[in-house]
Amino acid sequence: MAKGKQVYVRHCAGCHGSEGTGDGYRILGADPANLTSPAIQNKSDAALLSSIHQGKATMPSWNIRLSQQDARDVLTYVRTLAK
Ligand code: HEC
Repeated sequence: MAKGKQVYVRHCAGCHGSEGTGDGYRILGADPANLTSPAIQNKSDAALLSSIHQGKATMPSWNIRLSQQDARDVLTYVRTLAK
């Protein structure tokens, strides 16, 4: 969890916002997903891990920057953001 938060703050908060609500930096007008929303939280771990790893739309792919373990840790953290 602590590790996941570290990864999140370093790599994700810039776009998704420190609370995960998607209020960070908007690139090319695309809204970073609101990670606290049911639409995201209702997706399976596998689906979210795959988005995190492959990237999605304008979100960059993280598979060269994050290890499998980092991706799982950050997903654990994202799960704690659910409202
Ligand atoms: C450069 C900005 C940017 C960064 C950095 C970023 N994201 Fe995203 N993210 C986006 C955008 C934009 C979307 C929405 C993509 C779409 O569905 O159009 C998104 C979508 C998502 C989704 C939803 C995927 C789905 O299946 O709907 C998750 C989960 C996610 N990001 C997690 C992360 C995590 C974890 C990190 C850090 C490792 C991260 N993002 C870093 C911009 C970013």
